[in-house]
Amino acid sequence: MAEKKVRVGVFGIGRGRMFARQAAAMEGVELVAICDQREKPMREFAAQYPGVATYTEYERFLEHDMDAVVLANYATEHAPAAIQAMRAGKHVQSENIAVKTMAEAVALVRAVEETGKIYMYAENCCYMNTVQEIRRLYAAGELGEFRYGEGEYVHPVSPDEKIRLSPTWDHWRNWLPATYYCTHAMGPLMYISRTRPVQVTGFEVPYDFEDPTCTQTAKRSDTAGIIICRMDNGGYVKLLQGNLKCHLNWYRIYGNRGSAETLRHGDTASIRVRKEPWEKGEEEPVERIYRPEFPEFHDLASRTGHGGGDFFVVHEFIRAIRTGEPPYLDVYTGLQMSCVGILAHRSALNNNATYEVPRFRDPAELKRWENDHLSPDPADPTEARIPASTLGEIEKPPEVRASFERRARELCPDWYE
Ligand SMILES: NC(=O)c1ccc[n+]([C@@H]2O[C@H](COP(=O)([O-])OP(=O)(O)OC[C@H]3O[C@@H](n4cnc5c(N)ncnc54)[C@H](O)[C@@H]3O)[C@@H](O)[C@H]2O)c1
Repeated sequence: MAEKKVRVGVFGIGRGRMFARQAAAMEGVELVAICDQREKPMREFAAQYPGVATYTEYERFLEHDMDAVVLANYATEHAPAAIQAMRAGKHVQSENIAVKTMAEAVALVRAVEETGKIYMYAENCCYMNTVQEIRRLYAAGELGEFRYGEGEYVHPVSPDEKIRLSPTWDHWRNWLPATYYCTHAMGPLMYISRTRPVQVTGFEVPYDFEDPTCTQTAKRSDTAGIIICRMDNGGYVKLLQGNLKCHLNWYRIYGNRGSAETLRHGDTASIRVRKEPWEKGEEEPVERIYRPEFPEFHDLASRTGHGGGDFFVVHEFIRAIRTGEPPYLDVYTGLQMSCVGILAHRSALNNNATYEVPRFRDPAELKRWENDHLSPDPADPTEARIPASTLGEIEKPPEVRASFERRARELCPDWYE
């Protein structure tokens, strides 16, 4: 007998369109509902997927008869939406970032534990073909024990693209501190090495008053975030993310018997594995460069975005729902990788002090962080506010705001309907 389909709803029609496409095409999954306040893209979606219910309000959407929701709403509003969905009996997959504050992290853990629902953090970079292959090599013992790793997610965009991606003055992309969006850099290193961060130090390359992608847009946070973490096996990782001028998504792992990295240029879907001459097998080359296949679903995954990662996040979520077994990217792992960004910003604001990363399974540590509402969100109460930049609040001349609002209306009319 055929298995009952998993009925999925998607919240957010930007990035959410990818999840909707995946869910609609995947065997054993049925896309049943979508929610977004933007009417034009919703009308277009409804024409393309006539059987899918459309909602403009999240509360109404959660009343829909479905098993799971995928959260692709604003990056800084995932935790409250996830908690609400789990309390409404739905499994949850959350886009990046998992939480905006440490207090939200505590509330999220408690909601997962209380409801028993599957929660998966959708860090798609863990499932790139390159990352899956380095994980396989590491698990097979080919690289020895993890000692050091580097992850980079550098994503510069033109001033117009910046406005298109964040078309309202207080859109999260305009004020999110440079370290917060750290899991594209961190996730693969944890996934490969099976280590977790225990201590974090952060640095930020300041807001650039000479860069039009800062000065001609609504951006008020720093240019890039650098994070150093000590991991639970004594190794270290260094993460880089932000808007420096070289688009890159790159990883390197050093074990004590060899190293592996994704290629920085040329075929970036390839990896380079290196072993020193005195440590390699007789027939083994010192260096191998090759493009790995996905370990499974190669044809399906090759056709999706983010190096195939977009296929696997949906696949893993559905597998977890079907088996009842939490995914690798469960609430504890998702929060460990995500909270590093929050703590690193605090470190950067505080003369690079180090912070301990909480163990989210420990009720005493949850208690310690439960009232920590510090937030860079301009919508939050001033008593809980921290600056988004290490330079303090970035003031913008009124003419920049006026020109931003004019350009945003030209580029993204459906945000202003
Ligand atoms: N993993 C990846 O590779 C990747 C890539 C792009 C975006 N993302 C993530 O996807 C999420 C969405 O990003 P995006 O690029 O689509 O931009 P976005 O954050 O601007 O889009 C959010 C969408 O949610 C809708 N929305 C938000 N709150 C709502 C509410 N209360 N009611 C109704 N609709 C609401 C907005 O109208 C908008 O269409 C973010 O969390 C982002 O970090 C991840």
